[in-house]
Amino acid sequence: MKIAVAGTGYVGLVAGVCFAEVGHTVTCVDIDEKKVKIMESGVSPIYEEGLEELMQKNNATGRLHYTTDYQSAYKDADAIFIGVGTPEMPDGSANLSYIATVCRQIAESVEKDCLVVVKSTVPIGTNDKVEQFIQDFLTHDVKIEVASNPEFLAQGTAVRDTLHAARIIIGTESEEAEAKLMEIYEPFHLPIVSVKRRSAEMIKYACNDFLALKISYMNDIANLCELAGADIEDVAKGMSYDARIGAKFLNAGIGFGGSCFPKDTKALRFQAKQFGYELKTVDACVEVNTKQKTRLFEKAKKRMITFDGLKVAVLGLTFKAGTDDLREAPSSENIKLLLEQGAHIYAYDPAGVPRAKMQFPEDPIGKGEMHYVESPMEALDQAAVCFVFTEWEEIKAVSPADYKKQMRIPLVYDGRNLYALEDMKAAGVEYYSIGR
Ligand code: UDX
Repeated sequence: MKIAVAGTGYVGLVAGVCFAEVGHTVTCVDIDEKKVKIMESGVSPIYEEGLEELMQKNNATGRLHYTTDYQSAYKDADAIFIGVGTPEMPDGSANLSYIATVCRQIAESVEKDCLVVVKSTVPIGTNDKVEQFIQDFLTHDVKIEVASNPEFLAQGTAVRDTLHAARIIIGTESEEAEAKLMEIYEPFHLPIVSVKRRSAEMIKYACNDFLALKISYMNDIANLCELAGADIEDVAKGMSYDARIGAKFLNAGIGFGGSCFPKDTKALRFQAKQFGYELKTVDACVEVNTKQKTRLFEKAKKRMITFDGLKVAVLGLTFKAGTDDLREAPSSENIKLLLEQGAHIYAYDPAGVPRAKMQFPEDPIGKGEMHYVESPMEALDQAAVCFVFTEWEEIKAVSPADYKKQMRIPLVYDGRNLYALEDMKAAGVEYYSIGR
């Protein structure tokens, strides 16, 4: 099958590479010429385990191509997958301008019957609009059908999540479209759930918001545990044995970040309002998460007279381990507050520093100072307080004794519950974590 993929971000590039891997001929389209050159040379523009190997392998087979020339990629494709971003607008709604641009380009390029598949997370009903929009601008007499095929990959495990997905969701309005998508996914040998388009669009939001709710619920219970003298780690363990609850996504912490949960909770809430419905559960989830992100900072603020001029160690910048992505990362919110208070921050992260430097440059931007260091030990050296924001292995490897030995004041605020309370106490570290 000849496939074109619009957009080479996490969703588009991983999908394109995996389609090539199972035998399809794929052209990935991006507007950025430099990025296309990089990908052609077998280098991935995103940090994603296993992706580069698959790119190199499939570049070599001749099944995987990259281009900025969308016309040549779309004109005779059997299917065009749209994987461009749908970023959050100030009011919480999803910005569909990238989708619209691609639709226009598709309409002006296709020269044979083609299935357009929307992989990006889009508001319910968008596929209907996409179909109409393409129809309105079509320049050739061809039949275009639109299908929904939401993506469930998580960053850091994107290739595995795609090749071994728990299920493929396809949303179609015709038997032909359904059959074509089934054919495309046949070589993956995965369970396929085939539904109508609007249900497929809703499944994506319902899944992400459910997981976000699960995390916010655990964070809420964790905060209550602190007041009630219970330990959230034990509580989560006890809950996990109930198969109806499950063991995953029970980790309380510094709040969820990333490119999906924050955006998709707000987007569904926005859509519900438009339908005249108040989605109270998701409202609460967003509110809990906003507060959770700065909970440790607020605690530390009460403990210190000031952060002004103090060396503050920050361990972990990315929104989770295994990615270089800083979107909605709890670290950002906290760093902003610490800098405002005049802190001298020494930050360590094994992957997130280049992106962090764009957000928080090393040159002084106000009262505080921002420095990036090569190791956790350098960050901790003579620090007055340490914040742990990401659960990287390199950070887990720092022992309680290291904090005691390295820091000027062994005072640690851990947003990921990386250490046992007894171990930190035994090492002589003043330790604050979440929910215990
Ligand atoms: C998520 C979904 O998992 C994926 O299916 C969807 O397609 C995109 O959104 P991602 O954002 O890459 O993927 O990361 P995920 O591993 O789900 O973590 C999201 C956030 O939740 C992170 O900030 C993480 O630290 C936090 N989290 C996760 C918790 O705080 N506790 C948990 O138990 C699990």
